[in-house]
Amino acid sequence: MDRQAQIEFLIDHYENPRNRGRLEKPDVQMTWGNPGCGDVITIYLKVSDDQRITEISFEGEGCTVSQAAASILTEKLKGQSLAYAESLSPDDVAGWVGREVMLSRPRCALLALSTLQLALRYLPKRPS
Ligand code: FES
Repeated sequence: MDRQAQIEFLIDHYENPRNRGRLEKPDVQMTWGNPGCGDVITIYLKVSDDQRITEISFEGEGCTVSQAAASILTEKLKGQSLAYAESLSPDDVAGWVGREVMLSRPRCALLALSTLQLALRYLPKRPS
């Protein structure tokens, strides 16, 4: 994606967020924020017995990058295994939001991933 396309991609996710809203009876929900700016994200997850993310959504307030990254994250994770979710790194997020954005706004770009990682930590243990 060139720079302009990347910016339009992020703005589209910010203006038309995917999977935004509260999930009823999630297996886990987690709220986390950036203390520096006060921006906040809540992630809701439902997980099946075979360790897949069947539903994921988010709510939040904040800058374009943090909210767009949350929207992209939920799109990438729907239907995926917990192992995949656990394996995600800042590098993956950089691939989604663009290296330039990641370098200039790392705390914004990574807020959703940090929230997800906390949510996974608090996910009740499931039978395997
Ligand atoms: Fe706060 Fe971007 S300015 S997360």
